[in-house]
Amino acid sequence: MFLELDGRGSRQAQLTRALKNAVLSGRLASGARLPATRVVAGELGLSRNTVLASYEELAAEGFLHGKVGSGSYVAPLNGHVAVDAIAAQVPVPAPAAARMSQYAHRAVASCRRPIAGAQFHDLPFNLQYGLPLTNPALTTAWRRELAHAAAYTSPNYPEAAGRLDLRTAVCDYLARRRGLQADPEDVLIVSGTQEAVALSARVLLDAGDRVVIEDPHYVALWRAFVAHGAMVETVPVDDEGLVCDRLPATPPRLVCVTPSHQFPLGSVMSLPRRLALLRYAQTHETWILEDDYDGEFRYGGAPIAALRSLDAHDRTLYVGTFSKTLFPALRMGYLVVPRALREAFRIAKQLSTFGSPAIEQAALARFIESRGFERHLRRAAHTLRARRAALMAGLREHAQDRVEVRDSQAGMHLVAWLRGFDDARLAALIEAARQRGVGLHAIGPCYLEPPGRVGLLLGYGGVSPKEITLAMARLGEALRSV
Ligand SMILES: Cc1ncc(COP(=O)(O)O)c(C=O)c1O
Repeated sequence: MFLELDGRGSRQAQLTRALKNAVLSGRLASGARLPATRVVAGELGLSRNTVLASYEELAAEGFLHGKVGSGSYVAPLNGHVAVDAIAAQVPVPAPAAARMSQYAHRAVASCRRPIAGAQFHDLPFNLQYGLPLTNPALTTAWRRELAHAAAYTSPNYPEAAGRLDLRTAVCDYLARRRGLQADPEDVLIVSGTQEAVALSARVLLDAGDRVVIEDPHYVALWRAFVAHGAMVETVPVDDEGLVCDRLPATPPRLVCVTPSHQFPLGSVMSLPRRLALLRYAQTHETWILEDDYDGEFRYGGAPIAALRSLDAHDRTLYVGTFSKTLFPALRMGYLVVPRALREAFRIAKQLSTFGSPAIEQAALARFIESRGFERHLRRAAHTLRARRAALMAGLREHAQDRVEVRDSQAGMHLVAWLRGFDDARLAALIEAARQRGVGLHAIGPCYLEPPGRVGLLLGYGGVSPKEITLAMARLGEALRSV
């Protein structure tokens, strides 16, 4: 009998797998007698004990019967259950079109729309938006909190809405820093903005319901709504944020905004627009989703209060994330929901995950309560300010006549529009920069309606001032070369 071991795992596991494949493929037919363990051991260079153990394993799983030692026989596999249960171990050709839900088809199709900055991870100077701001002091503090939480956190399921200590700490933090009064009962701890959006879609939208998002926007938000089956419409933004006059006359179920720092253009939504949006939501019974992804980092003054803090009619769902303030690998964020939606959101969260990881929640609660988090925020803001200054200085020195910078005095990125460029020239610039080790990312993918000009989304969170200075000199060279 020809048996080939695949080299993966222990020798016993390899032999067991090879024998199973022989049975499942019919090479070892039902009722066939297996060769003596001594023979197999000799042919494959295995110890007899290994072969014996493998036969015993196969007998225990119902592949063989008979007495080990006096002859082992392949069991009849006419029961489909046995075949189905193990069929995954035998390579089968992928079916031409797997049967999937409508959701899966929409989800796969939505992810064909690219996200800005999904390449160039291997370049030394990647000016990608969303890279984390790494910091040894944060790593040390986080390790300490995690170790403490691991030792003292109950291993039982946490509350689905999130641990009460974390929800309370988040409310205190929101009151101190974002001017927002929230009750811990209205807070849900989630796996980042993305889970907050998916839950909001599930709780608020039926298939075909309309959602308004800004244009340009965060593509992951668009993808989540499209996958859900919502009809997504866009409304443009200008220097005052969402152009509320362009909101549809037939009201959508939900309007999504980034009022503290429009993503990606950086405008702050003006007070008249905030009031207009809140009035629209109240009049039409539309929900608002406020994505406050990086409202914490402002360099030209105090952080701007959240839109929800002005909402007297409880129409706003407020989403905050630790992806920017700490790091995206944490996958932790919070959602403050209107009172009328409290129960539905708790149940939706319970059904989807039974709650977010308890140890990380406990660690985060202590980090916020001890004010370690805010100490980190002050340090991070200082670091980001230096990076931003290096970027602005570099652009002034090496690209002034070619770019027009939109300075939002906030966040971890800025937008540089390129003067006299079209798509082809932009592609040439990105390639010329790549050859010089600099990762540049076009802003175009953030738009559904092309903006009529081309520009770059420059992220500075993940690059040091020194690296930014070098990158800008190379950007200058690349600009001259195209
Ligand atoms: C507009 C916007 N919202 C939210 C996020 C963060 O998403 P998450 O909390 O899922 O990491 C980002 C990150 O890039 C963003 O750009």
